[in-house]
Amino acid sequence: MNLVVLISGRGTNLEAIIRGINSKKIKGKISLVISNKKDAKGLKIAEKYGIKTEFIDPSLYKTREEYDLKLAERIKKENPDLVVLAGYMRILTDGFIDTFENRIINIHPSLIPAFQGLKAQKQALEFGAKFTGCTVHFVTKELDSGPIIVQAVVPVMPDDSEETLSERILHYEHRIYPQAIKWLSDGRVQVKNRHVIVKGAKY
Ligand code: GRF
Repeated sequence: MNLVVLISGRGTNLEAIIRGINSKKIKGKISLVISNKKDAKGLKIAEKYGIKTEFIDPSLYKTREEYDLKLAERIKKENPDLVVLAGYMRILTDGFIDTFENRIINIHPSLIPAFQGLKAQKQALEFGAKFTGCTVHFVTKELDSGPIIVQAVVPVMPDDSEETLSERILHYEHRIYPQAIKWLSDGRVQVKNRHVIVKGAKY
């Protein structure tokens, strides 16, 4: 399975996926990592593992549509089976999502549909939730709402700060993202009326 990964920041999920590939758990390869931020730490991580990287500069495009057209063109050249969002902080346009329909996945640091959008961990803390978590899902036109592939539940501790909670959730993100990609690379994932069925999954 050929993957293109989009990032904007530190790239710890990217690294967890690379490790999943290098340990042969995931049958696939990352042909390209693209960032919309020049100084994203994740670019350095990809380079460390010998993966091709590219920075596509948003300031060169007048609109989100133009940027996403360029992004889609570049990604298409790699002919990927899957576009993986790993801390990619731009909302994708409908046109981009149509181009790669059912082939884009994302990880979100909450149990969706709770706490969609930005700062999900802070939202969980402020709401007073006792449990939150993380979700790997297919990307659809509604933000953080597509069919759910896998979730992990994480407790919120009474003395948690945004940082401690984020750290606890991140630990599970690094487990479930490679797991979901493994299932996809094994051809075990089916979507029926927004329900994801993973053949033979042991949770
Ligand atoms: C993660 O918390 C992920 O859930 C969210 O953005 C963060 C990315 O972290 N979408 P990293 O760049 O993978 O370290």
